[in-house]
Amino acid sequence: MGGNTMGVLFAVTTWGESHGEALGAVVDGCPPRLPLSEADIQGELERRRPGKGSGATSRKETDRVRILSGVFEGKTTGTPILLVIENRDVRSSDYEDLRDVFRPGHGDFTYDRKYGIRDHRGGGRASGRETAARVAAGAVARKILEPRGISVVAYTKELGGIEARGFDPSEIERNGLFCPDGAAALGMKKRLEEVKREGNSIGGIVEVRVRGCPPGLGEPVFDKMDADLAKALMSIGTVKGVEIGAGFEAARMTGSRCNDPLVPGGFASNHAGGILAGITTGGEIVLRAACKPIPSIELPQKTVDRAGKPAELTIRGRHDVSVIPRIVPVCEAMVCIVLADHLLRQKAVEK
Ligand SMILES: Cc1cc2nc3c(=O)[nH]c(=O)nc-3n(C[C@H](O)[C@H](O)[C@H](O)COP(=O)(O)O)c2cc1C
Repeated sequence: MGGNTMGVLFAVTTWGESHGEALGAVVDGCPPRLPLSEADIQGELERRRPGKGSGATSRKETDRVRILSGVFEGKTTGTPILLVIENRDVRSSDYEDLRDVFRPGHGDFTYDRKYGIRDHRGGGRASGRETAARVAAGAVARKILEPRGISVVAYTKELGGIEARGFDPSEIERNGLFCPDGAAALGMKKRLEEVKREGNSIGGIVEVRVRGCPPGLGEPVFDKMDADLAKALMSIGTVKGVEIGAGFEAARMTGSRCNDPLVPGGFASNHAGGILAGITTGGEIVLRAACKPIPSIELPQKTVDRAGKPAELTIRGRHDVSVIPRIVPVCEAMVCIVLADHLLRQKAVEK
């Protein structure tokens, strides 16, 4: 029950709603004596903040994180780490029209059917704002990965049908869209502006690459590394598909093409995306998350109210045109959390 916690040894619980007092995460199982400051987490939150890229929401989420427990004199103590982010700049009145009608594409209908009560202001737990807590927890997870030389980098692979074909790592933090292809980023910005003018929204694809991950991480049956990574990414709002390595393209290959030949020191190709039988190979882990267009659009939409009566809805308030770029640091955070958990679990297996 609940479903607000992920991880076995490195366990992350997120709590809070978009328009409540605050939201945050409890990180339990973080090893002691790791250097950790609010500034470490703040840096990651800044990357997720609205206002990056074109077509971003005008909500000014200041996202100031506070560490309330689990850290003493700049080091983790091994006890639960409570991370709190206050909700500021909330304009709950923007959502008054949504009290009794359901937004198509959002969680309003399903939350109402599940709980019989819902916080209509900003989407409550189903709000993209919940992902600030994930990013904060991911920053803690990264502290476990970094000393082991494991890097997790996510970027925009596609936005509104425009693909990043080139790959310049220095571009990722430069163009506001986390896009590794500068020319493609310009096209993406233009597309975002067009769609914003139309009052519409668009989706995209995020790619995540993990370098330096040792072989052997992942459990053999239900907690396979690919299963846990897919679940972690799929648990982010708007993610409708996850691919690992060759992904859906593998279904169109022959075995002789798909199999990655083993060669001294590794593999000659990486269709497996760095995972075989649910266990990391030691090669690069490659994942992609397909994100649908953001549900809140300014165009009139058909819906029903709580009584089932037809209604027409035009959504006001502050909304992104696309979940990209803000979802990019969230994908990174989720992958960091899964890897940190499996690293700690692997310690129990190794001699
Ligand atoms: C970072 C982030 C920001 C989001 N911003 C918005 C938004 O401004 N408006 C909106 O309607 N949905 C937004 N969403 C999407 C909804 O949270 C999501 O579509 C909703 O929870 C329904 O879940 P589903 O799309 O997975 O079915 C955002 C999601 C993320 C991850």
